[in-house]
This record gives sequence, structure tokens and C-alpha cells, in this order.
Amino acid sequence: MQICRFSTAAQVGQAAAALIAAQLLRKPDSVLGLATGSSPIPTYQELIRLYQAGVLDFSHMVSYNLDEYVGIPVDHVCSYHRFMQDNLFSHVNVRPECTHVPDGNAADLAAAAAAYDEAIRAAGGIDVQVLGIGRNGHIGFNEPADVFTWGCHVVNLTESTIEANTRFFASSADVPRQAVSLGVGAIMDARQVLLIATGSDKADAVAAAVHGDIDPHTPASILQAHHQVIFLLDEAAAAKL
Ligand code: F6R
Repeated sequence: MQICRFSTAAQVGQAAAALIAAQLLRKPDSVLGLATGSSPIPTYQELIRLYQAGVLDFSHMVSYNLDEYVGIPVDHVCSYHRFMQDNLFSHVNVRPECTHVPDGNAADLAAAAAAYDEAIRAAGGIDVQVLGIGRNGHIGFNEPADVFTWGCHVVNLTESTIEANTRFFASSADVPRQAVSLGVGAIMDARQVLLIATGSDKADAVAAAVHGDIDPHTPASILQAHHQVIFLLDEAAAAKL
């Protein structure tokens, strides 16, 4: 586990984008595992800047997002499908058919989740997985639990996550109570993991993930067992290390 500290969230974004850019330059048809939420936004902005500057080409890239809410339309302003369109995909030359986000509206959610895992395997696995971290230590929507869940699955969101995500919705009552999330299996199988954490509200979760026991009650702690993981942190998120 490598820890990289930066003064600001903007620097964290630039560093994460530099690592993703290096991956795309080395292997244009890389399979990227992508995250939503506030943490990767500066990273995506920097990737867009590099694309607009003619440095990066996304036309061979394949992506699989970590998660999606259950039961909201894909074009809902808070869906993760929409987030990816607004914050990255519509600004670069990625081929729409090469981007994937779990289906939160499938008639058979479990079957769709299993098919998502299978599609990632068929694509050769994830080269670089981008992660944020929840205040409760979740990665993707792998919430604190008694066991790690390996496969893509439907998850009941915890009160902590619903409260944290209320900022994106009109009220907490509007936050979906379930999501579809990659399990820790596909994340641990990724050839490289970049975890982005910024802000003081992530400091406890980061410290528990880095220094605590590997424990499903802090899902991110499993990354201690990954062979190639980099935590990209600003001062505030690194404050308790
Ligand atoms: C998002 C995801 C979540 C977020 C986490 C942090 O796709 O899987 O695990 O990374 O909730 O969210 P932010 O970055 O909004 O603090």
C-alpha cells in the first residue's frame, strides 16, 4: 500500500489523472473501473483537460463503473449513469458502447449483477480501479458488514451513506435505499487501485483502512491485501495517519 499526500484536493485530482493518463498512454484499450461522487471530480476534470489539450485519446478505452442506485431512471439527475455522462463521458471521445454502469432497473437485479461481473471478466478484468471511500469506510457500495461480499450484488444502503448522499438529492427521503455495487472481488482483482480521499470527514475512515485490522466492518481495509494500491490523499484526509 502506497500513501501519497498532497496539500489540496486539486493536486490529488491532478496526480490521479496523471496515473490514469499514463495507463491510457501505455495501453489505449485499458479497462478502467470508475467511481462517482465528489472525490473523483477533480480527476475527471483533469482528464478532460488532457483530452482537450490533445494529450489523451479515450476512443479505445473500456470502462465499468462501481455502482448505481436501484430504481431511479438512468437520466435522473442523481443517477450514476447521468453523473458519468455529465462529469466525464460527454466531454471526451469515449465510445458510448464501451462504457458500462450497473443496471439498477433490471427486472432481475441479481442476474444483472452476475452478468456485470461476467462482462468484466470477459473484458480481461480491470486495469485501474478508481475508488472513493465512504465516511463509514465503504468502497463502491460495499457497506460495513459481518462478511466481505465478493460478487456484484444488491446492497441496502446504511443510514450513514443515505445521510452522506442526501446532499445530492432534494431530501433524505428521496435517496434510494438500495444500490447495485461491484463486490470486493472485482476490486481486488484489479491490476492497480487508486483510492482518492479528500476532506477531514474522510480522515477516520482512511486511518481505519490503512492502520486497522482487515475487517468487513471497514470494507476499505481489504485493500491492505492488494498488491498495487495507491491512496491519494489531501492533508485533511491524511490527518489521522
Ligand atoms: C461512488 C462510490 C462511493 C463513493 C463514496 C465517497 O461510485 O462507489 O463509494 O466513492 O461514497 O463519496 P464522495 O466522493 O462523494 O465523498
